[in-house]
Amino acid sequence: MANELKMEKILELKNLKKHYLIQGGVLRREIGAVRALDGIDLDIYRGECLGVVGESGCGKTTAGKAIVRLFKPTDGHIFYYPADTESKPTADLARVRKSRIKKLGLRSRLQMVFQDPTTSLDPRMLVKNIVAEPIKTLQRMSSRDLEARVLSLLERVGLTRDHLLRYPHEFSGGQRQRIAVARAIATDPEFIVLDEPTSALDVSVQSQILNLLKSLQRTLQLTYMFVTHHLLVVKYISNRVAVMYLGKIVELADTGVIFSRPSHPYTHALLSAIPIPGVAHQQQRIVLSGDVPSPADPPAGCRFHTRCPFAVDRCLKQEPLLETMETGHRVACHRKHEMEKLVAETFGTKRIGRS
Ligand SMILES: Nc1ncnc2c1ncn2[C@@H]1O[C@H](COP(=O)(O)OP(=O)(O)OP(=O)(O)O)[C@@H](O)[C@H]1O
Ligand code: SF4
Ligand SMILES: [Mg+2]
Repeated sequence: MANELKMEKILELKNLKKHYLIQGGVLRREIGAVRALDGIDLDIYRGECLGVVGESGCGKTTAGKAIVRLFKPTDGHIFYYPADTESKPTADLARVRKSRIKKLGLRSRLQMVFQDPTTSLDPRMLVKNIVAEPIKTLQRMSSRDLEARVLSLLERVGLTRDHLLRYPHEFSGGQRQRIAVARAIATDPEFIVLDEPTSALDVSVQSQILNLLKSLQRTLQLTYMFVTHHLLVVKYISNRVAVMYLGKIVELADTGVIFSRPSHPYTHALLSAIPIPGVAHQQQRIVLSGDVPSPADPPAGCRFHTRCPFAVDRCLKQEPLLETMETGHRVACHRKHEMEKLVAETFGTKRIGRS
């Protein structure tokens, strides 16, 4: 849990933005921008698993890709504190030039695993080459040593020597995701973005992959950012949760607090949509009206006001900041202090457990 961790920062995001330009007309002029990430402030602590949840299109993948520098953010800062630099950040990753990324070893230290291993693994490559490729770009090794290293990585993720000379299509979805994980840990990273790593898998296989990720995190002392739609997966694997809506973080807290005392109405709505094991009384379903507004034209004031059952005048005019509450968790809502009462009075609870 976050409080059991040393609370040593590994990453610090400040006002991070990624706007995708929209071009139009014959001359392909800039006519607008999709504000996929629109000002994220977030500290990530060494050794934690930070869950990131929110509806499709809210910017989860964009946040992960920005951190591992798959593209240059539009604005803001990403300070990365490598384990061996005694709390001094490297250059600001949001500003660092592409040519310096390799020099700083960022590709090896910060990794990403994608949802669909079928598309993220090259179908023409043998497994031994898929896993060896990132190692070869980092260091020279004899082919014998390289093969031994690849084999030990495969064994770590539950595969064997028999799998070395096969192609990705010869594996099940779960096994392919194991190969993707082996490739991600091949360079001894300290931080991995896991972008819906179990969503494309059969339910029976999902828990095996989650358990593998948990055990690797422990033995390799990894820090994870775990992106998912699935709140119960987050409850199982994460110690903290960031809830995103339309390019912003609206609530950030320890997992236990998010599930027991959410303070943003959007989080209440997400939680009310799933049965939560071990809870006696659960929130009645809060059905949000309307679609998520376009990130190319987000509403003024609070971005959630077009769907919020508790919006008041102020919400239409003034954007709420992500502020820290007495409980230590952070919420962006003008009515956060009264939200628990408002939700209970308006929607009530239903009894689902025995105690
Ligand atoms: N390369 C791109 N060019 C233009 N717009 C993009 C691009 N990538 C993402 N977007 C837009 O940015 C917004 C955020 O996308 P993102 O993929 O980060 O969402 P997400 O939360 O990961 O969604 P999902 O849960 O569906 O994976 C969406 O509106 C998406 O359409
Ligand atoms: S600020 Fe207003 S509109 Fe936004 S979540 Fe809070 S109550 Fe709802
Ligand atoms: Mg995504």
